[in-house]
Amino acid sequence: RPRVLSGIQPTADSFHLGNYLGALREWVTMQDDHDAFYCVVDLHAITVEQDPAQLRQRTRLSAAQLLALGIDPDRSTLFVQSHVPEHAQLSWVLECQTGFGEAGRMTQFKDKAARQEAEHVSVGLFTYPVLQAADILLYQADAVPVGEDQRQHLELTRNLAQRFNSRFGQTFTVPAAHIPKDTAKIYDLQDPTSKMSKSVPSGVIELMESPKRSAKKIRSAVTDLEREIRYDVENKPGISNLLVIYSALSGRSVAELETAYEGKGYGDLKKDLGEVVVEFVTPFQEKVQAYLDDPAELDKVLHRGAERAREVAGETLRTVFDRVGFLPPM
Ligand code: TYM
Repeated sequence: RPRVLSGIQPTADSFHLGNYLGALREWVTMQDDHDAFYCVVDLHAITVEQDPAQLRQRTRLSAAQLLALGIDPDRSTLFVQSHVPEHAQLSWVLECQTGFGEAGRMTQFKDKAARQEAEHVSVGLFTYPVLQAADILLYQADAVPVGEDQRQHLELTRNLAQRFNSRFGQTFTVPAAHIPKDTAKIYDLQDPTSKMSKSVPSGVIELMESPKRSAKKIRSAVTDLEREIRYDVENKPGISNLLVIYSALSGRSVAELETAYEGKGYGDLKKDLGEVVVEFVTPFQEKVQAYLDDPAELDKVLHRGAERAREVAGETLRTVFDRVGFLPPM
């Protein structure tokens, strides 16, 4: 079975609808026909300042949300990145294969760095994409389900894999980005030309917030001055975003929705989408709570996941250390 790996940062109290529709929904589907590895990337989280107690809490909360969304720990390997030391170890080797200018061209780094004062921009933020490459290459992943914003990081990962392979001999599988066609980029409800993101939380639907609040955010989503409910990203980014979200959550195509809402108003669309979202998050939140109520079981799942992950990661790392010429430890 082909391998899949992906990761998500535990940097908020909740995943948002962009995370779910852009990536996590694919994680769940792909477990059916892939050998899947999914990790909560706490090493990545500390590239910007984190409160330690909050990071620990959010890491558990992230795992609970993944389980509640349907990640099945009997079929997939679910783990916490810092539990598998091979990630940081491979990252170091790959950093030594990465050009300084190459890393400097990463647009997410440039965006994140621009949002902070220069002295707060850590070296870790700069090498972040190389650690991400290590996450992927350690597991010899064939496919990496992510949203559009990760495309450039995946391209870097592929380049590093190819470079290492041609310099040291075939070592890594060159992974392909798996980016969904319709939901690769979900937009902010208040600013439908920028992506929904936890770092700009104005029009963000959080999966853990009160369903009432989500419905209200949808009701006040920014639209346009026309009346027609029609998919047109150029001229109607707000309505188009709502249609994409509605379609993804309901399984009805955008064309079907356009027909169904012919002659109806934006208010009707928003009200109905609000209900669809409420129906999705209400049972989800109950499941999350059940996982949080049994932290011992949650930790056991993560412990088992890390053990299985280390078997695979350890094997790759041993090969890498040998290829670059490190003396065997024993
Ligand atoms: P993160 O934690 O920011 O986001 C997790 C996933 O959600 C996707 N995503 C979106 N998709 C569509 N629309 C949006 N508005 C939206 N916002 C976020 C992201 O593309 C991502 O797939 N660098 C990664 C974490 C990572 C990783 C990895 C991913 C670390 N190591 C290895 C894959 C493989 C990140 O910051 O994701």
